[in-house]
Amino acid sequence: DLGHFRHYMQKEIFEQPTAIANTLQRVLELGCKPALFGPEADTLFANAPAVRIVACGSSYHAGLVARYWIEEWTGLPVSVDIASEYRYRKGREQDGTLIVAISQSGETADLLAAMRSARERGDVKVLALCNVPHSTLTRESDLLFLTQAGQEIGVASTKAFTTQLVALYVLAAALAQSRQTLSASALDEIVGALHRLPVLVEEMLALDGELDKWAHELSHYNHALFLGRHTLFPIALEGALKLKEIAYIHAEGYAAGELKHGPLALVDENMPIIVCAAADELLEKLVSNLREVEARSGKVFLLAEPGCEAAHDGAHRVLTMPVASGPLAPVVLTLPLQMLAYHTACRKGTDVDKPRNLAKSVTVE
Ligand code: M6R
Repeated sequence: DLGHFRHYMQKEIFEQPTAIANTLQRVLELGCKPALFGPEADTLFANAPAVRIVACGSSYHAGLVARYWIEEWTGLPVSVDIASEYRYRKGREQDGTLIVAISQSGETADLLAAMRSARERGDVKVLALCNVPHSTLTRESDLLFLTQAGQEIGVASTKAFTTQLVALYVLAAALAQSRQTLSASALDEIVGALHRLPVLVEEMLALDGELDKWAHELSHYNHALFLGRHTLFPIALEGALKLKEIAYIHAEGYAAGELKHGPLALVDENMPIIVCAAADELLEKLVSNLREVEARSGKVFLLAEPGCEAAHDGAHRVLTMPVASGPLAPVVLTLPLQMLAYHTACRKGTDVDKPRNLAKSVTVE
């Protein structure tokens, strides 16, 4: 039932505060405890020599964000692989490696094949992060965390993606707890931030009208670049994927530092550039990347946390987030990118919930 929404995708965007709160329910009662992933998790987490994440599409982007959290909080080596590539690679896995298989549906053929292939490469353990309780993935995994996004009908992943991010954040904190790589106060701060998350996400929904105005402009272009750094780099990839998937606009996501290694050649007054900015230690670097774009008349649409004023000069449009969200910035900044893609698609009149050529669940190779 759509209620007052025009599309399932729009409804699912607006359900995110609830989906995230539901996913966090046990976490907020218990803390980021390894036991949330299964009775064996504490020992497996404490002894894993490495983490390998495998996934497809948006779930892969969630994995890319998780790498920053896990590396920073645990020092563990983390690799993130596209499942369709991993399954045909030949490398071995170190015994005890934690394979994190991320999938909304739990039925993606390449992901299932990647998980089975990982088991043949070493004595690994598979942790499934999934939104569908009785899926093939959940049945074949050793450890499990279920996101509580509820059914997602729109082909474009929205609430499934943000709840995956939340689950991965909890995983990173739980790994740190098992491995004792963070002080109690640092862990408390990481867990404490989760309490505010549903409200932060709710506040982002108020930006919907402004993003519709941006969409009006964006809908006149055939191409777009999305930029970010650190955890916002995978969010730039996700924003670009959303725009191509439902608005049929050719879009590429880049780590802003990669600009001058090629994509800068594409920048002129006909290239809109959507930028996600956080007030972190890389802000200064991002600002100099933006100067390069602006010097070539690229049109910068800036989504910035408070404290990023240095990036405002020269931007074509600026939208400032209500509050800074620290390590949770990639979750929070995903929402405006979803709304931007959604409104651009509506203005172009595409079939938002069922974009051409795509299926919700890719159960064939
Ligand atoms: O069900 P899964 O998470 O395994 O699906 C993976 C991708 O097919 C999926 O995320 C796809 O990229 C979305 N349509 C993106 O919006």
